Amino acid sequence: MRTQVAIVGGGPAGLLLSHLLHLQGVDSVVLERRSQEYVQQRVRAGVLEQGTMDLLREAGVGERMDREGDVHNGVHLQFDDERLHIPFTELTGRAISVYGQQEVVKDLNERRRADGGKVYFEVSDLSVHDVTTEQPHVRFTHDGVEHELRADFVAGCDGFHGVCRETIPDGIRKVYERVYPFGWLGILATVGPSSDELIYANHANGFALHSMRSATLSRFYLQCEPDEPLEQWPDERIWAELRTRLGAPGWKLEEGPIVDKGVTAMRSFVAEPMRYGRLFLAGDSAHIVPPTGAKGLNLAVSDVDRLAESIVDFYRTGSSTGLDTYSAACLERVWRVQHFSWWMTSITHRFGGPDAEFDRRLQRSQFDYLRTSKAAETTLAENYVGMPKR
Ligand code: FAD
Ligand code: DHB
Repeated sequence: MRTQVAIVGGGPAGLLLSHLLHLQGVDSVVLERRSQEYVQQRVRAGVLEQGTMDLLREAGVGERMDREGDVHNGVHLQFDDERLHIPFTELTGRAISVYGQQEVVKDLNERRRADGGKVYFEVSDLSVHDVTTEQPHVRFTHDGVEHELRADFVAGCDGFHGVCRETIPDGIRKVYERVYPFGWLGILATVGPSSDELIYANHANGFALHSMRSATLSRFYLQCEPDEPLEQWPDERIWAELRTRLGAPGWKLEEGPIVDKGVTAMRSFVAEPMRYGRLFLAGDSAHIVPPTGAKGLNLAVSDVDRLAESIVDFYRTGSSTGLDTYSAACLERVWRVQHFSWWMTSITHRFGGPDAEFDRRLQRSQFDYLRTSKAAETTLAENYVGMPKR
């Protein structure tokens, strides 16, 4: 088997890359370990930056997002029971959209299928070879048959637990990491949202987030232990804790049946460089951010936007400038987003330990600063909606 770009991983990064390349006449094959049903029902991100929305629209896959997604012009921050609204559009002229990651994945899969794209699900034993030569290839098993896929380039879009990153030798790959002493318990409930926009709350019991998916579906997160057993969180405890942490005068939390529950550990992680020979990493395979800034999916989209452009430019003009600067250009955005995600986490979560009281007063001061300074609000707003592409 031969293609121009072998794409490992059929999450949002891999599928979008395949679609963007197709639009410019470049052939690719996507190899995904899980089933299509599994990747399409996995509940994850929900917030799209302005730049992500624009890119999906330009690529002709934004129609359902525009119909069913909900554009938000700001968010609420909360400290104890005091709420503060950050008006993104007023401050930056840009907005965000609330549209589930699994919906983006469904739209991309549907479009790849309609365009005759080659996406193999349930592949196993995948390995990447000879990426420092001009003939890299990927070996994998599909339907019990072993295959070798030869390509000009390999795109490692296989997420944090993938195999591509490990292909870069230890002496070349450098990893920067921070693990947080807490996780997020995420739930999906069939009840209409109790707020017009997201609420990020800092409460003495820990962080809580109210998000949503539609007029009848709400998404919530609660700070918990990183390895919290789900049995510790029966539905009644979840609602009681959400009422406490999100509570504000004159506000009421609407409750309904919980249809999905899961715990996510939190980490900051960057692997450098994002290119090794003809292997290019994109998305979670190269970096993870704590979810507080809603950035992971958006960063994956920005990586593949740049990668698609660089590959297309190489085929069109023979220039490898885009490919040669890919890693450094991506990493500049990655570290801005790393800082923002760490900062959003640090001002909203309970860290515990001997400095807990000191930390909470610093958090209070940060909240007051946001409340009284347009410069502080604008810093949050421009990072949240996404810095313009460079
Ligand atoms: P993935 O989605 O992980 O896709 C990688 C794919 O590769 C997977 O389908 C995997 O099965 C496949 N794969 C792995 N190994 C192999 C292999 N060996 N062979 C073949 N295939 C393989 N981001 C935001 O932007 N906004 C948010 O609001 C947000 N909220 C989040 C909330 C939660 C609870 C979580 C967990 C994440 C959140 N994120 C958010 C992060 C976001 O979901 C990820 O950053 C995003 O999924 C990254 O996309 P990706 O395609 O790089 O990786
Ligand atoms: C959602 C997830 C996030 O990490 C976040 O910061 C905001 C919203 C969500 O799943 O809706």
